[in-house]
Amino acid sequence: MGKKEHWGSRVGLVLAMAGNAVGLGNFLRFPMQAVQNGGGAFIIPYLVCFLLMGIPLLWIEWSIGRYGGRNGNHSTPFMFESIGKSRFWKYIGAFGIFTNIAVAAYYCYIESWTLSYAYHSLAQTFSGLSQAQVAQFFGSYVDVFTSTTGIPFEAIIFYILCLVLNVYILSRGLEKGIELTAKIGMPILIIFGIFLALRGWTLGTSGASAGCTDCDAMAGFNFLWNPVYSSLYDPKVWVAAAGQIFFTLSIGMGTIHSYAAYVRSHDDIALSSMSAGWMNGFVEVVLGAAIIIPISVGYLGLDWVKQNAGFAMGFQTMPYLFSQWGAALGTIGGFMWFGLLFFAGITSSLAMGTPWVAFMKDEFKWSQSKSSWTFGLVVLIMGIPTVIFFKNGVFDEYDYWAGTFSLVIFAFAEVILFGWVLGIEKGWKEITDGAAMKVPTIYKFIIKYITPFFLLFVFLGNLITPKGNDWLTQTSLLFSGQGWEFDKNAVVKQLFHIGESIIWFQNGVPTSMFYIDVTRLFLTLLFAFICLLIYIATVRRAKLHLSAEGVTK
Ligand code: ALA
Repeated sequence: MGKKEHWGSRVGLVLAMAGNAVGLGNFLRFPMQAVQNGGGAFIIPYLVCFLLMGIPLLWIEWSIGRYGGRNGNHSTPFMFESIGKSRFWKYIGAFGIFTNIAVAAYYCYIESWTLSYAYHSLAQTFSGLSQAQVAQFFGSYVDVFTSTTGIPFEAIIFYILCLVLNVYILSRGLEKGIELTAKIGMPILIIFGIFLALRGWTLGTSGASAGCTDCDAMAGFNFLWNPVYSSLYDPKVWVAAAGQIFFTLSIGMGTIHSYAAYVRSHDDIALSSMSAGWMNGFVEVVLGAAIIIPISVGYLGLDWVKQNAGFAMGFQTMPYLFSQWGAALGTIGGFMWFGLLFFAGITSSLAMGTPWVAFMKDEFKWSQSKSSWTFGLVVLIMGIPTVIFFKNGVFDEYDYWAGTFSLVIFAFAEVILFGWVLGIEKGWKEITDGAAMKVPTIYKFIIKYITPFFLLFVFLGNLITPKGNDWLTQTSLLFSGQGWEFDKNAVVKQLFHIGESIIWFQNGVPTSMFYIDVTRLFLTLLFAFICLLIYIATVRRAKLHLSAEGVTK
């Protein structure tokens, strides 16, 4: 066996973990979720979810990871088996590899947009274009075969470029690859973020066009920050806030476990995890909230932003707004925005590569390089459909099943594994072992009872989402005996196409239902493939007389 791999320094570890968390979710997803869920109405549920679900899961995942690493398991399948003492757990652990590949597949696509848009900002492609033309550029960009952006098949070229970059860094290993990238990328990202946030903070009404009465960047801040207490009764906002906490902290994915597996056996995890988690929170609520929304409100008005808020706004609208800053500042602003998104993205996608790489190295003794390049290959196979069939909803399907629902299932399983199967007393020892801070004892109770309850609620929230996401109306209908009508996004409705006729082709042309069902099949096959690898690894282990706890003979 070669020398055991570890992080080079504590700063490196915290930056890599923070880089894993800080991502596109902080700058694109968070502001949009906040706007779509009533601005200040979102913020309290968000903070409560962070305290009652985010923090406990960070501690749980870091503990499981370090425990696994101690026994030579650097990805979740055999970590879970060794804690759960049952074969079944390793197949739950399969999610910790599956989710990362499926999320990396579409996440790298957005990451590749940032790379391309950084290039286009420097090339001043957007200067002189109207807002509609900038939006049109994006529409053309994602329309792979008829794209008129100036570079043929641009979306595919940048996607592959982005993947190759990820794989190359992964192949350099933990310290020289991931840690180094985080040490360079995180400070740059924060500097760029501060520059753009300053612009958000100082824009005021100076961007208002004639006749615009609500074009005031401050109105954007107020909308986001004035708490609205009535939202506390709306489960829709809670489910959205929980989803954001999951995505932004990268919990329920398996990345944290893999990173933590490379922490030395008894080094602190309690404080390191908090440093990374709070740093992510800072970047999200202080920087993430200060850029896209206030700047857009400053130029286009609050009403416009409320009506048009969406994930693609960062690409469809922002380049136009930067061009209002004049040629030089506009170019710098655009480059910083897309550069920041790129660094945020790549430090997260590298983390998504780690579970696969670790698994192949642990179980099949593959080299770092071979494991990294095969990761690239699997992601490419899974990802190309999201690029080519972006407009057919393939991307959204990945985002929902892998980027939202899987995280909740996995997190629920691991909180039960940790608090109940392993037992909270042993779990607590793991969390506090080597701790460089005092971990509040109340979290013993929270981990055992509150977090699982919370997760169950989020799980049900996704499973049986009421029509229009209107919980209050459906609940009263239920109690008055009129039943419960599912929303089109409710998992049960989606899975079984309840109330829809199954039509895959119309006039010989595939319908959107066809694309959706094929995508689901594709994701299921990926999961089955990971399970098969785990099964083969188990057989190999049996032959080599290895158990999940390491060498037994
Ligand atoms: N945590 C990563 C993000 O926020 C996945 O984008």
